[in-house]
Amino acid sequence: MKIILLGPPGGGKGTQASLMKERYNVPHISTGDIFRTNIKNKTELGKLAESYISQGALVPDSVTIDLVRDRITWEDCKNGFILDGFPRNVAQADALATMTDLDAALLIDQKYDVIIPRLAGRRACKECGETLHIDWLNGKDVCPKCGGEIYQRSDDKEEVIMERLKNYESQTAPLIAYYKDKNLLKVVNATNTVEDTFELVKNILED
Ligand code: AP5
Repeated sequence: MKIILLGPPGGGKGTQASLMKERYNVPHISTGDIFRTNIKNKTELGKLAESYISQGALVPDSVTIDLVRDRITWEDCKNGFILDGFPRNVAQADALATMTDLDAALLIDQKYDVIIPRLAGRRACKECGETLHIDWLNGKDVCPKCGGEIYQRSDDKEEVIMERLKNYESQTAPLIAYYKDKNLLKVVNATNTVEDTFELVKNILED
């Protein structure tokens, strides 16, 4: 199973990818997560990525393409992978086509008026990595699961969210037509609950 996930920032790609990973036993490869781990570990890649991510811009293709080219050759990808957040522009999609064939491009389709408050209120736990919404914290500033410190992603500030959406429109949304032309596009209406959305994903993938 070689799947890519398309869709606007905050549309629920990562949430669905986690469920898919469990069900289909293939790795969930999120370029955003790889960059965030490097930022946390203060690597050279992390320092470079942070300078773009904190502005809502894309990390340069010269870095991102090689990173994915290497990652999909790892042993855990022998039965496939779920690529979340890559490709993000036509140059990345063309590069991916030279690396491997795909089974489907799943568009996790969500409206911007839902996404913006969701991302602006998103918080994460520094200890256990749990993702939460500020409305669930009841004014507390520690993780309800483990008591760890809560933080906001640097790219979840409102002005940066707007920049991410602009970049999505201009650079990533054209991939919808790109994969439609290749007969790989499958559209998932993600306006329902996480569970209902996953039912739609399963129906599409298992059809
Ligand atoms: P990345 O980490 O890929 O961020 P993104 O695409 O902006 O997506 P998010 O992680 O914000 O959202 P998501 O769609 O995964 O939604 P989620 O499931 O979390 O990339 C970050 C940055 O890294 C980029 O801006 C760029 O700078 C750089 N980068 C990454 N890849 C790159 C590439 N290929 N090239 C260049 N640069 C790259 O859900 C969002 C929230 O909604 C969560 O709180 C979740 O709990 C909640 N939620 C989800 N589904 C539902 C539901 N059905 N109902 C209610 N709440 C829900």
